[in-house]
Amino acid sequence: MNAAYPTRKPAFRIAPSILSADFAHLGDEVKAVIAAGADWIHFDVMDNHYVPNLTFGPMICQALKPHCKKADGTPVPIDVHLMVQPVDALAAAFADAGADFISFHPDASGHVHRSIQAIKGKGCKAGLVFNPAAPLDVLDWVIDDIDLVLIMSVNPGFGGQSFIDSALRKIEEVRKRIDTSGKDIRLEVDGGIKTENIARVAAAGADTFVAGSAIFGQADYKTVIDAMRFELAR
Ligand code: DX5
Ligand code: ZN
Repeated sequence: MNAAYPTRKPAFRIAPSILSADFAHLGDEVKAVIAAGADWIHFDVMDNHYVPNLTFGPMICQALKPHCKKADGTPVPIDVHLMVQPVDALAAAFADAGADFISFHPDASGHVHRSIQAIKGKGCKAGLVFNPAAPLDVLDWVIDDIDLVLIMSVNPGFGGQSFIDSALRKIEEVRKRIDTSGKDIRLEVDGGIKTENIARVAAAGADTFVAGSAIFGQADYKTVIDAMRFELAR
């Protein structure tokens, strides 16, 4: 690690993915998981083209936006993960629908730097998403332009999969690059995150955790979110 930039990990954030929520009661689910302590709401947007699944579009983001706030009115960021190709038009539509973070897979964009600029031009924070076998090279040329790196610890498309251990090495590598950059960039991990493994993922360098089935599959959301925070605090 570069001594000039000591590890400066921001506060941990837990971002439940609504992919595993009850789609028949999505607004209630978002309110319930925020009341249970969620820091962000993660939207897994899939187009049945870039990934073999189809989820939801900007209209759902617009409908849920008014509910993304804590009891005291503090806004809860909407963290949009685009598993779509092409990227730009949908990124703009989600920005207009109230997204706070918009991340995309570099291999889904014809011009990565331009897509990042377009997202930031809409006033949103921009992120890049790396699949389990994806190299990090593109980070070298855009790390000064992004606000978030999202590491996939499963292959994109479905919730409830098992954590891919090689993601730990990639998280360590990204942590080094973020620390060296001295930039305020969040390191988020998505896929197979559980109470049982969240501490290991944090130890590798992650600070933001997507969890779908580990949270929405449980009877009491606060119990599992509290358990995750307990593991992170150990
Ligand atoms: C995959 C999705 C999932 C989801 C999290 O494309 O991005 O990783 O968010 O699912 P769980 O937490 O159930 O693995
Ligand atoms: Zn995701």
